[in-house]
Amino acid sequence: MAIKNLLVLAVFLSVLGGSVANSKGLDLNYYKHRCPDAEAIVRRVTVQYINGPWWPVPLGRRDGRISRKSEVNLPSPFAGIAALKKNFFDKGLNTKDLVVLSGAHTIGISNCGLINSRIYNFTGKGDFDPSMNPSYVRTLKKRCKPTDFRTSVEMDPGSVKKFDSHYFNIVSQKKGLFTSDSTLLDDPETKRYIDTQVATAGSSFNKDFSESMVKLGFVEILTGNKGEIRRKCAFVN
Ligand code: HEM
Repeated sequence: MAIKNLLVLAVFLSVLGGSVANSKGLDLNYYKHRCPDAEAIVRRVTVQYINGPWWPVPLGRRDGRISRKSEVNLPSPFAGIAALKKNFFDKGLNTKDLVVLSGAHTIGISNCGLINSRIYNFTGKGDFDPSMNPSYVRTLKKRCKPTDFRTSVEMDPGSVKKFDSHYFNIVSQKKGLFTSDSTLLDDPETKRYIDTQVATAGSSFNKDFSESMVKLGFVEILTGNKGEIRRKCAFVN
């Protein structure tokens, strides 16, 4: 199975609906009771396929019955550091969470469409984003021709299939794929974190990532009678 599918599966499994077992709304070992195989599957994907860390995540988010695109407020890959920090703060996440969680771009791909303007027409004059490494721009241009909006592009070239701190090396070399990656060099706190991970080969990255992921799991959870516990994981009741 492709890594992408495995990740989608892992994320899907990790957000399946569930009961409220503690005051904060999530519970450790939740799936032992409800979907017994789920934790084992996610653990296998994370550890075996991408060599990632494993940590106890409280699970069992209650599900809403509808999903509206207009209500989703995901950060933009074109955003600068101020907008990203605000986006995270608004969800109760801090600057450290921002840089740590951006490290998830150690795996996965995007496509030429999302970087077209960055490498071909940054200010409307046929130029590229000056915050990018010029030789990396040349490499990207070979892969992404001006009218190509589809071809895939790796987010952590050189280590795309492994969960490690290599993403921070890439960003520090001005090879961040999106503006939202490159701009992590524009803030003293995020830059310091990147420099430290590069200097120490990611000494604290796995631990930091685990902690921030647990925080991320508590963002805007439904508690009490809001939402519902699905009788069948993949369907509203
Ligand atoms: C800081 C703000 C973030 C921005 C602006 C951002 C933006 C993006 C974009 C535009 C893509 C490419 C999607 C596509 O082309 O289909 C992407 C991919 C991805 N992002 Fe993020 N992201 C952010 C934070 C995160 C976080 C917090 C995580 C997880 C903890 C994450 C995990 C991933 C993964 C795993 C992929 C690869 C998906 C694949 O290979 O299909 N990102 N991100």
